Amino acid sequence: MTLHETVAAIVAHIATIEDRGTVASYIPELAKVEADRFGMAIVTADGETFIGGDADASFSIQSVSKVFALTLALGKIGDQLWERVGREPSGNAFNSIVQLEQERGIPRNPFINAGAIVVADVNLGGHQPRVAIGEMLRFLHYLAGDDAIAINEAVAASETSTGFRNLALANYMRAFDNVRHPVDLVLGTYFHQCAIEMSCRQLALAGRYLMLDGRHPDGGRVVSAARARRINALMLTCGHYDASGDFAFRVGIPGKSGVGGGILAIVPGRASIAVWSPGLNENGNSKLGTVALEELARHTGWSVFSPPD
Ligand code: DON
Repeated sequence: MTLHETVAAIVAHIATIEDRGTVASYIPELAKVEADRFGMAIVTADGETFIGGDADASFSIQSVSKVFALTLALGKIGDQLWERVGREPSGNAFNSIVQLEQERGIPRNPFINAGAIVVADVNLGGHQPRVAIGEMLRFLHYLAGDDAIAINEAVAASETSTGFRNLALANYMRAFDNVRHPVDLVLGTYFHQCAIEMSCRQLALAGRYLMLDGRHPDGGRVVSAARARRINALMLTCGHYDASGDFAFRVGIPGKSGVGGGILAIVPGRASIAVWSPGLNENGNSKLGTVALEELARHTGWSVFSPPD
């Protein structure tokens, strides 16, 4: 089967599945999305794009933004970031607070909400949230080669008025001096970063540097090869929260999910992949997005655990 046929077969199969998971509703604005949408985009290392379903429909990238935010924060303070955020899977839900007291305000990893809030604090860097958010948008425009990527202000406002757990996490970490700017500014940055909308095509394009050893396809260096490998390692070990082990087992490539139903997945040296299906499983990851990636990995043999051919 060609990759084009594989994508078509996956789209056709996904359309037949009735149990699509549950669309996130704790951010009220996200509950408006239709559960039967599905999109997929694959950009290969040689620059070809394969798309299927609603690949050009925009969705809320939510926690997928944590990959790009981490990349920016590492660019700002490098390995000093690891004094404030760990690199271990948490074994807990994405919005859990339980470990923070025992671990003195140092979140387990940059992909759980607590860790991403510390990353947003770093990215704020003494500026106003609009400066940090502008920087993030420009970064995504460059990575995807598409200036149309923008924030859905209604989603940001919806989370600002209901994000009490994140407020608790941020205040708690401020008590340990691991959040250093005023909490409302840090969360303003974080909620707007999560409210960025992208299509599968845009997301797969934006992820290319992670399949290309840190390089933009235009030849520019986004991050060092070592840093790209480490970001991929964190995606594999922590990108799906308490289901990261299951994702590695079923799919076998680094991936980062978001409660909007998107997943960015990277096959180093081969492909940058984005899938979107808004219904979530019990861990808050896209139910059918995971199924689609599992099928893609099975059809193609793509895995970080296979020898190169
Ligand atoms: O902070 C939150 O709860 C959301 N803005 C993002 C959470 C998220 O996407 C978790 N991922 N599956």
